[in-house]
Amino acid sequence: MKQQLLDIQQKTLERIPAITDLKELDNIRVEVLGKKGELTAILKGMGKLSQEERPIIGKVANEVKEAIEEAIAKKKTAIEKEVLDEKLKSQTIDITLDEETKLPGHAHPLYRTISELVDIFTSMGFAVSEGPEIEWAKYNFDYLNVPSNHPSRDEGDTFYFNEDVLLRTQTSTVQVRTMQNKKPPIKVISPGKVYRFDEIDATHSPLFHQLEGLVVDKNITMADLKGTLDYMAKRLLGSETKTVFRPHQFYFTEPSAEMDATCFVCKGKGCRTCKGTGYIELLGCGMVHPNVLRQCGIDPDEYSGFAFGMGLDRLTMFKYGITDLRLLFSGDSEFLSQF
Ligand code: DAH
Repeated sequence: MKQQLLDIQQKTLERIPAITDLKELDNIRVEVLGKKGELTAILKGMGKLSQEERPIIGKVANEVKEAIEEAIAKKKTAIEKEVLDEKLKSQTIDITLDEETKLPGHAHPLYRTISELVDIFTSMGFAVSEGPEIEWAKYNFDYLNVPSNHPSRDEGDTFYFNEDVLLRTQTSTVQVRTMQNKKPPIKVISPGKVYRFDEIDATHSPLFHQLEGLVVDKNITMADLKGTLDYMAKRLLGSETKTVFRPHQFYFTEPSAEMDATCFVCKGKGCRTCKGTGYIELLGCGMVHPNVLRQCGIDPDEYSGFAFGMGLDRLTMFKYGITDLRLLFSGDSEFLSQF
């Protein structure tokens, strides 16, 4: 009987290494150790043994059982590990992008307009200076000579954090910051975002972009203003572009004007873009008001200056034939990939 047991052990242990799946392994377990298994059958026959033989054979039987169980358990762990490794290998997610799907990316149309303007103005000796979008109310209004009862100060028009702090409604705030920090000669432009309480539609947005300009020096006149802005328009929109200055009113400039440029779509003939007028309005401008100079620590008897502020969103829409302002801010990559 002992030999029978040892034979079962040897035979079983020889079969196990070749097993590759858990089902087969379990079949062996059932065949040998199961209720109707080979080993179980022998153990059942132990009742027939003599008193002396019984413990000896019992011990051998237990050893055989343990050896087989251990071999099966080891093999089971090995197979399970193999299955898991295989799964991990086949289910790996490739997080790298292949060459073809890499998008090259390019400047947003608005920023193309800004960099074109920065090129034009820096070639004329202007420096670029940016100001904060969260601004002191006094820089947005008081220092710019805006009367205390002016409707643009209203909470329905301007985003206030509190009485003193707001989202700037115009880049003209940078004029104040520049003059307070620097003595003339001053020659700066400042592009950036501005905010006003507007409902969003195809032509309005509570966020839009402006580019501000400021020149302060001795003997600066309206001729400097006109020459500079006319040159800018010709470089931006084409050398045949003509400019027209219409009188206007701003609190921080005196005299003030708005400048129109020949429509670059129809070249002045009249079209949908310019609503048949042949011109499009480009910017507001004027000679810096003496009060503004004085409030910013510059003597208006010694110095004079001109300033201008142009909207960049409508200009960009015209330039690229974009019909809905919202597209500029949507981050829609399909729209942007056209440019
Ligand atoms: N800040 C004005 C606006 O938002 C634009 C402007 C007009 C700026 C005249 C100027 C200026 O610097 O001189 O409508």
